[in-house]
Amino acid sequence: AAIDADRHKREAAERAVESIQPGMVVGLGTGSTAAHVVHRLAALRSEGKLLDVKGVPTSRRTEALAESLGVPLTTLEAHPVLDLCIDGADEVDPALRLIKGGGGALLREKIVAQASRRLIIVVDEGKLSPRLGTRWAVPVEVVPFGWRSQALYLEGLGARVTQRLGPEGSPFVTDQGHFILDCAWGALEDPEALAARLQARAGLVEHGLFLGMTSELIVAGSRGVEVRHP
Ligand code: A5P
Repeated sequence: AAIDADRHKREAAERAVESIQPGMVVGLGTGSTAAHVVHRLAALRSEGKLLDVKGVPTSRRTEALAESLGVPLTTLEAHPVLDLCIDGADEVDPALRLIKGGGGALLREKIVAQASRRLIIVVDEGKLSPRLGTRWAVPVEVVPFGWRSQALYLEGLGARVTQRLGPEGSPFVTDQGHFILDCAWGALEDPEALAARLQARAGLVEHGLFLGMTSELIVAGSRGVEVRHP
């Protein structure tokens, strides 16, 4: 099943890369599905195609991968508006609302996505969910200063809160120097209302609910590749 999921991730990623035109500046997402996008771009370059396409990475991890494969990179400072961003997701509902941040890159991912004219989300069918929150906790990125107060606040909103840990058991630290609190609410009744409450609290930097941002979903599964629009 894991091998199938990885093949599906690659198929979705490769379909998304077909939307990249010469000369574009493209947001490059984070995670195993988005990594297939970078690999595909590198493969096309070796065939002499899309040589003038540049990427804006959403994490140090994606930056390192692109550099290792010779995919040229630029920054949002140099290109404040991007043509396209291609990224994965952890959970997708029928309205194409997302939970992201499983890789801990949600802040940069959201900044790059909102700077892009078009956001293409690439997933394997295992990411589809009838209701957000059923499959995945909502990652909330918090400033380390006072983070325990934020955990209590989030518990007050009904979440089961777990601080994300890194490989050595110390707190996971994001590329921007923040912590992640994984907040399990179960199936969310009203993601928009929750997002509004999370936005209003000082110290909560960003959250993994990506609402109204998806332009196109590419989902690959045992019955092939399907493209959906909101
Ligand atoms: C990264 O922070 C997440 O938003 C990713 O998009 C997510 O974790 C998807 O990862 P996979 O493609 O590895 O499932």
